[in-house]
Amino acid sequence: HKKLVKFDNDFLWGASTSAYQVEGANLVDGKGPSCQDVKEVPEGTSDLTVCADHYHHFKEDIALMAEMGFKTYRFSISWSRVLPQGTGKINPKGIEFYNQLIDECLKYNIIPFVTMFHFDMPAALDEKGGWSCPESVEWFLEYARVLFKNFGDRVKYWLTINEQNMLTLAGQVIGALHLPKGCTNEMKEIYQQNHYMLVAQAKVMSLCHDMNPDAKIGPALNISLVYAASCRPEDVIAAQNFNAIRNWLYLDASVYGVYNNLVWAYLQENDACPEFADGDAEALKNGHPDFIGFNYYNTATCQESDGTETDNPVADQQTTGGAAGLYRAYRNEYLEMTEFGWEIDPVGFRGTIREIYSRYRLPMIVCENGIGAYDQLVDGRVHDSYRIQYLREHIEQIQLAISDGCEMMGYCPWSAIDLISTHEGMVKRYGFIYVDREEFDLKQLKRYRKDSFYWYKKVIATHGRDL
Ligand code: BG6
Repeated sequence: HKKLVKFDNDFLWGASTSAYQVEGANLVDGKGPSCQDVKEVPEGTSDLTVCADHYHHFKEDIALMAEMGFKTYRFSISWSRVLPQGTGKINPKGIEFYNQLIDECLKYNIIPFVTMFHFDMPAALDEKGGWSCPESVEWFLEYARVLFKNFGDRVKYWLTINEQNMLTLAGQVIGALHLPKGCTNEMKEIYQQNHYMLVAQAKVMSLCHDMNPDAKIGPALNISLVYAASCRPEDVIAAQNFNAIRNWLYLDASVYGVYNNLVWAYLQENDACPEFADGDAEALKNGHPDFIGFNYYNTATCQESDGTETDNPVADQQTTGGAAGLYRAYRNEYLEMTEFGWEIDPVGFRGTIREIYSRYRLPMIVCENGIGAYDQLVDGRVHDSYRIQYLREHIEQIQLAISDGCEMMGYCPWSAIDLISTHEGMVKRYGFIYVDREEFDLKQLKRYRKDSFYWYKKVIATHGRDL
């Protein structure tokens, strides 16, 4: 029995959303399309024209968040709402919308925790090649300048790029990263795009500190431990390989400004090292995050690769199962799965927090964590006991990690309110607030408090003491 340290009274309890998944109004009031708006809609799922219609319901939604007692709300700004073409002309109505959203949060003393980029590159830039263009670094800087200038007086916490590692490992599934026509070395191309994102992020962190010295900024990666399938030393090496490819590459670059040596060697072997432009190495070294934001859903487990299981060397464990010669994805028999086939691993959450802290020694905030499920609205109620259980078990592990000496700033599960999932539509729900619409029937979009809403309200009111 471990002696538990209490959650601080200023611990940031809240929850998350992202613009393209929650706002709707995707081509309204001068907003330009993003790559998400022009991509093919996955079969059987809704498009993004309405989502939860947060754009028109944000006052009601934030009032509900305030009722739960949120200390923070993590949302993202849609780049193409602010800059419809990605660069150049600013859309005043876009600025106005986010001004109102921010002010509405502040009205209830909810701290806006703002993601700058969540999978939604403006289509105008995406058509030019998006992150495959060296100019993407400058595009992102221009956008950042607009954000810091317009919102920096009130936004004191910024997140750079949501899940850059998932963009690199599975960007085509998310619909947010693509390969230029005629690309011959796919892996080199993807890691070059990844490099531009790393440099862009580093420069934006420096810019933030120059423009708003009292603001804090950090990455928002998807970090989770990779286990070895057994104590066979070869399996342990495979797990180290995937840990480096999945996690440490991104954090080593964000925090220390260097490439992880295991990943660099792997890239060299595949003739896939990114080209550095003049000043890139210095920019990486100069960008310093103030904290680490990370999303956690599930751990991964690996065994030694027999060298044959995949033809895609940049595979995510959830998509193609491994990288030849390096690791092979393994189904962890100790873990149960959600209805959508995601492994559930609260203890791995503690392990992940401990590992991040011992490597980087920065305060951390959980920017996403949660369970996607087919919630049912019956007589105005949603009995989502499975969500309560999931979140309770994860919060317990945060407390254990704090008691292990890790510095945790806050917890923002996914998602504050139901929204459209990345590729499984509206029926895969994560929110505390139920949005009454179906995949294609929009109904009245009425909001309902799920059982988890009342439970989370109690958790926050008791500073995590009553779980
Ligand atoms: C994270 C993303 O990867 O997981 C979110 O940052 C996403 O955008 C969330 O919605 C849950 O994934 P999914 O695929 O169930 O929507």
